[in-house]
Amino acid sequence: MEKTTGHNGGMTRREFVRMTGKASLASAALGFGLSSRLAGAEAAGGDTIKVGLIGCGGRGTGAVKDCVAAAKGVELVAMGDLIEAKVKGCRENLKKELPAEAMKVTDETMFWGFDNYKKVIASGVNYVILTTPPGFRPEHFRAAIEGGVNVFMEKPVAVDPVGYRSVIETGKLAAQKKLAAVAGTQKRHQAHYLEVVKRIHDGAIGDIRAAQAWYNTGGLWHIDKTPEMSDMEWQCRNWLYFTWLSGDHIVEQHVHNLDVMYWILQALPKNVNGMGGRQTRVEPHYGNIYDHFAVEFDYESGVKMASYCRQNPNCANQVCDRIIGTKGEVYLDGALGVISGENPYKYEGENWNPQVREHTDMIESIRKGQPLNDAQRIAESSLMAIAGRMSAYTGRILKWDWVANTSKLDLRPAKFEFGPLPVAPVAIPGKTELV
Ligand SMILES: NC(=O)c1ccc[n+]([C@@H]2O[C@H](COP(=O)([O-])OP(=O)(O)OC[C@H]3O[C@@H](n4cnc5c(N)ncnc54)[C@H](O)[C@@H]3O)[C@@H](O)[C@H]2O)c1
Repeated sequence: MEKTTGHNGGMTRREFVRMTGKASLASAALGFGLSSRLAGAEAAGGDTIKVGLIGCGGRGTGAVKDCVAAAKGVELVAMGDLIEAKVKGCRENLKKELPAEAMKVTDETMFWGFDNYKKVIASGVNYVILTTPPGFRPEHFRAAIEGGVNVFMEKPVAVDPVGYRSVIETGKLAAQKKLAAVAGTQKRHQAHYLEVVKRIHDGAIGDIRAAQAWYNTGGLWHIDKTPEMSDMEWQCRNWLYFTWLSGDHIVEQHVHNLDVMYWILQALPKNVNGMGGRQTRVEPHYGNIYDHFAVEFDYESGVKMASYCRQNPNCANQVCDRIIGTKGEVYLDGALGVISGENPYKYEGENWNPQVREHTDMIESIRKGQPLNDAQRIAESSLMAIAGRMSAYTGRILKWDWVANTSKLDLRPAKFEFGPLPVAPVAIPGKTELV
């Protein structure tokens, strides 16, 4: 007789899998077996996804809810943040939002301080959600994969070329260990993007000649420094505005568009030529990042992709992508996917929440024994944004190969502890050194 799982109301494992995936995937899962980590969980009484959250802010809280909504048999068992009050506040919020059977965090499985991630990873989880500022991502990703845990990580995944290379290496280790590594890029799991990109790849607009991407929005939140906060604590709380933590907004936000461009063009640029500056955000609480960038990405094929991003209040908002081919054009944004020209098309099909779907796809892949691994491509999309920033900061045209393989830029501070940390100067093109 088939044994029941430990956490699914006495369902058999077959019923459990049927409830959590499409029928075809479910039967495949039964045939393929589970990843080694979940195989351990199965032996202990069920293929429960035991989630550890690292970074208990806005997206982390949302991602836990998305993950629990994504499949049956998901429970939150550990939480970590740099700041004690953030972990405790997040736990209280999630207690109200999650079904009781999904909320398994105890006083013993809440961690804070710089080593919180190590404790979460070692707490018996088999799935971590990495939602800290991206400057910490390469280290946290490596620790999770070395610890044998599947990783869902928010974009971007690096802020400098040293971090990029680390993520590439960890992605290879994840593949060897048959662990999932999925990035929260949203669009690659969004219905109208999936359909329109498929049509582009099937030739709907002919050969691609040019592309444009925009992430132009207003300002975001900031936190002023108080006398009680050390430099390090303030920068980590006000992380959007420090390049070592966010990568600047071209990396933190515009990476969404650049990942779409990488997906559509199926190629990485040859040269990157950027410019930018800061005009409306010059006060100290805006740290050392720019407020606008314009970057041209040149491809071996002759295609040029023009990319723009801006965070200036009271200006036009524009967050979308345009691709121009020999037979037509494509327009994509958060709601629309439209093809014009010889093969006109407008997506009017089903839509779903891509932030939930990311977890559904990841959990299905784990249960099927064929874990998704996005690490290389999200590292490369992140590097497109990093290269754009480096070009704009220095005023130099950069070769992709040099940025990817040679640049030694490593923005991490010398030590991770609460204390003094002078703010690095705002970059000045023509003066800022290329490293
Ligand atoms: N895919 C999306 O649509 C989307 C949307 C929003 C944010 N994000 C990404 O999610 C990540 C987090 O963004 P957010 O909006 O939740 O920011 P947030 O400021 O709300 O949360 C970040 C949390 O990380 C904590 N933290 C800082 N350093 C840490 C460390 N070393 N270890 C553990 N915790 C640490 C902070 O205290 C804070 O609680 C970023 O990479 C961001 O780009 C993605």
